[in-house]
Amino acid sequence: MKTMLPSSSCPQIAVFFLVQGLIAFLLFSYSTFRKNDPVLQENTQVLPQPVTDINSTHRERSLVILLWTWPFGEHFTLNQCPPPYESDECFFTADRSLYKSSDAVIFHHRDVCYSRKQMPEIPRPPGQYWVWFNLESPSHSPNLAFMDNLINLTMSYRSDSDIFTPYGWLEKNDAIQNFTIPKKSMLVAWVVSNWNPQSQRVHFYEELKKYIQIDIYGRQHKPLASGNMQENLSQYKFYLAFENSQHRDYITEKLWRNALVSGTVPIVLGSSRENYEKFIPRDSFIHVDDFPSAKQLADYLLELDKDTQKYEQYFKWRSTWRPNGDEGWATHYCKACRALKDAPPYRTIPTLVKWYT
Ligand SMILES: *[C@@H]1O[C@H](CO)[C@@H](O)[C@H](O)[C@H]1NC(C)=O
Ligand SMILES: *[C@@H]1O[C@H](CO)[C@@H](O)[C@H](O)[C@H]1NC(C)=O
Ligand SMILES: *[C@@H]1O[C@H](CO)[C@@H](O)[C@H](O)[C@H]1NC(C)=O
Repeated sequence: MKTMLPSSSCPQIAVFFLVQGLIAFLLFSYSTFRKNDPVLQENTQVLPQPVTDINSTHRERSLVILLWTWPFGEHFTLNQCPPPYESDECFFTADRSLYKSSDAVIFHHRDVCYSRKQMPEIPRPPGQYWVWFNLESPSHSPNLAFMDNLINLTMSYRSDSDIFTPYGWLEKNDAIQNFTIPKKSMLVAWVVSNWNPQSQRVHFYEELKKYIQIDIYGRQHKPLASGNMQENLSQYKFYLAFENSQHRDYITEKLWRNALVSGTVPIVLGSSRENYEKFIPRDSFIHVDDFPSAKQLADYLLELDKDTQKYEQYFKWRSTWRPNGDEGWATHYCKACRALKDAPPYRTIPTLVKWYT
């Protein structure tokens, strides 16, 4: 390593090179370690030669993907992607000192959208992709115009994103399954953390609860331990999967995890029925728009409550598909690896403003 140190007396430059050398060494060891090749495994006994050119080393082996911030400051384990996203071709890091040698930088919108200073202030290395990542709806994504002429690829719940990171999805069962409907002793549940009395969903709830019993959980309501949440919700026949805002493809864990994975029938308020049907079978959910009024919806729910056979029709699709809720931040980021390998060499998104609505 010593040979790498320049003769310069400037201590900052020396430290810079030392750090670069150390990073190169760590990256090299890391990718060597990850290879399953037995020859390579054996060679781990032999210390790798000091790497003088960080670029040539990791470019052959992996794409370096930099998380510019931890999303909302939440930390998680990098480089342990679950199948089918496991790959030793990408190296994820949150270490900004690797900025210059990163092939892609992922910007989580809400962490960088409040000031331009939160984006890199040094020039972008040639060929580096800037990836815009956001799971919040347009109503909660301020300052989209900050991203004008900066972004190369999008990563969001929108199905037309370059990297599609939905809150949930269906998987096909290998064989026809007899899904067992969880035992039901309760009628309608709603878990809500952001209680905004002016919102459309609260207005609708206030109307609906005049006609049918609704158990409401959340910050300003009955507490619901998150540990047993799904078990708890599974005892309800219906779940109010009401989104905080209505936008194309904005279908969150309220539908996927709280309702479908828990084994209840979702009553959705959000984008149009047509939009939901892009993702889930039409007989898997009830849309508030299916009824001219909250009272008529309540009447229908009470009817289903009495007619078991009719209620069970809402579970028919489960013989073929099973719902999955996303398993946290790591998996979303893991999806970026393959997408970046397949990304066109040049791509730019002049503005997000007209698209992200
Ligand atoms: C599912 O139920 C049907 C009818 O009750 C039965 O014939 C079939 O063998 C069951 N399949 C499985 C995978 O249990
Ligand atoms: C769900 O949990 C709450 C509080 O943790 C409890 O009061 C309620 O009885 C539970 N409901 C069911 C159906 O288990
Ligand atoms: C990404 O977009 C920027 C801004 O338009 C552009 O300067 C840069 O060349 C693009 N990079 C790639 C890899 O497409």
